[in-house]
Amino acid sequence: MFTLTRNRFSKLAAGSGGQGVMHSPLNMVLIALIVAALTAPTHAGAENAMTPLQRAASSPRGALKSPYGDFTSVATAGHKIYMSHDCSSCHGGGGGGGMAAPLTNEVWIYGDDDDTLFRVIALGTGSLSPGDAFRRQGFVRKGSENVVGPMPPFGEILKTDDEIWKLIAWIRSAQCQRHPSNC
Ligand code: HEC
Repeated sequence: MFTLTRNRFSKLAAGSGGQGVMHSPLNMVLIALIVAALTAPTHAGAENAMTPLQRAASSPRGALKSPYGDFTSVATAGHKIYMSHDCSSCHGGGGGGGMAAPLTNEVWIYGDDDDTLFRVIALGTGSLSPGDAFRRQGFVRKGSENVVGPMPPFGEILKTDDEIWKLIAWIRSAQCQRHPSNC
């Protein structure tokens, strides 16, 4: 298949009478498409075909569930993601808050279930949520923090659902350390 396509390339490149063919915009687009198809990873799992933002936008409320029953096992990995994506600049390195809401106090603004936390992180909230997606999914503030503002969406900056589940695992584990009675 590859050889065949290459032959077609050479034909296209040779053209039926000159160099013009190769440079016509339509051909360039076609060639780009063929190259993209050939180089696209063929064995990427369906899971990675969607960004977390698309996942949150297309899944019905309540459908998203962490694969990590034992969240402490991936908490350290989650904290690395937390620090490397600058969550700490708003929420503080330990999650205790700063410019934005604390993640480790007892207030959960929209709820503390997996599905809600995934959507807060992937879709963002308020005026920063693309197309007002978060509010349109029916979320309203239930808890109130001292500082109130929107959270930016991370569902395209973070490329996989797994990173979000690890972040949530770290947040839960930090919560547990501060409020052992809640665990
Ligand atoms: C620019 C500042 C900012 C950054 C960066 C940021 N957040 Fe937030 N985050 C907020 C704000 C503000 C809220 C409160 C949103 C609201 O009330 O609608 C929030 C809310 C949250 C909540 C819900 C907390 C609760 O008590 O219910 C979670 C969980 C969260 N953020 C996780 C993260 C993670 C994980 C990252 C990094 C990937 C991150 N945030 C990066 C500003 C930020």
